[in-house]
Amino acid sequence: MSLQDSTKISFLTRNYPKNFSSLPSPCYVLEEKKFKQNLQLLQFVEQRSGAKILLALKGYALWKSFHLAKAYLSGITASGIYEARLGYEEFGKEITTFSPSYKQEEMQQLVQISNHIIFNSFRQWQTFKEMIESQNELRERKGQSKIEVGLRVNPKYSEVSPKIYNPCVEGSRLGITPKEFKKGVQQFGLEGISGLHFHTHCEQNSDALKRTLKHFITHFGEYIPKMQWINFGGGHHITRKDYNVDLLIKTIQEFKSKFKTEIYLEPGEAVGWQCGFLIGSVIDIVQNGMKIAILDVSAAAHMPDCLEMPYRPMVRNSFEAKVSKKHHKLKLKGEKPYAYRLGGPTCLAGDVIGDYSFKEPLKIGDRIIFEDMVHYTIVKNNTFNGIPLPSIGMLRENGDFELFKEFSYQDYKYRNS
Ligand SMILES: Cc1ncc(COP(=O)(O)O)c(C=O)c1O
Repeated sequence: MSLQDSTKISFLTRNYPKNFSSLPSPCYVLEEKKFKQNLQLLQFVEQRSGAKILLALKGYALWKSFHLAKAYLSGITASGIYEARLGYEEFGKEITTFSPSYKQEEMQQLVQISNHIIFNSFRQWQTFKEMIESQNELRERKGQSKIEVGLRVNPKYSEVSPKIYNPCVEGSRLGITPKEFKKGVQQFGLEGISGLHFHTHCEQNSDALKRTLKHFITHFGEYIPKMQWINFGGGHHITRKDYNVDLLIKTIQEFKSKFKTEIYLEPGEAVGWQCGFLIGSVIDIVQNGMKIAILDVSAAAHMPDCLEMPYRPMVRNSFEAKVSKKHHKLKLKGEKPYAYRLGGPTCLAGDVIGDYSFKEPLKIGDRIIFEDMVHYTIVKNNTFNGIPLPSIGMLRENGDFELFKEFSYQDYKYRNS
């Protein structure tokens, strides 16, 4: 017997109480008001600086909210064929695609829908040059805008840590190094190349961009005047409270007036930054030297960056707690009286979200709200252990909750064959 339909719920309820007790659990919840505030700030940057801002779908692909995003941003940037298709179907506007490598069958589709296609090597550009040129002839006959081609470069400077997020580490496969670029230009020239792209940031402020541009210009300055656009990549944490927006605008304006090129930024995280949460529930509380609450949300399956980065996510209405060891005995001491380790329902021993304390004791069924959980979560989650995927919804400005999507056993089953 299939359980899927009997467990389905679909509802729209007004004005949720503060603990959101009737939301589905677990559920990623986008907050429309905060999302729009992010988009407004990004649009302000576009208008003031003259740069175009593209949403990086790798970080945020919650497409049922694209009707909001496309009112403010210039388009999307895709990591490959599926994201490009999603952008084309649900966002429209400009579509940029960058992938470290493309296959023939992917490029056949990408040339139909991309505005910019960015290559990671001269070889890949040469492989698809003819295909792009013939698509451009076709587009010209139809009066459509042509595909513009770019090359991703490695300016050999990135301030990002940890290393897993740093595209300029020694041996990195991302971006053409200055030496290889020179060789490529000697062999193939730059005719047909409209832009250069670098992506070297992750959660960075605009001072890092300013420093990075110096390196970019040192290594690639002689080619910039030949370009129509430069794509400064993603990782600009524009919507974070302490981000220096004025410096970003000034840096872009100065670059534009010096080199007479268009500028693109492609943030993902800054679009979905602090405008949504993941709500879960306490399923059990066990004891092993401390109280451990087992939830229906998992770090491993639903918030993988918490383990990859790693970091301890913020929990609404919670406080600090620290583990200490005295006479071989563990103790979890909280800033508030009731301290718990929060963990997920998988078999992974390390599926631990973090240690927290609360003013009141936790009870079975209590709701736990993990803040800032709509970027790099839904796009990366998985069904490890067959754990159900969280639902997805939006808390509208007027207090209504709109359920976008529920997942079922079928989603698990058909990912496995
Ligand atoms: C090429 C490229 N562009 C844009 C982004 C988006 O970066 P973020 O979400 O940090 O703004 C990334 C992230 O890895 C990327 O690799």
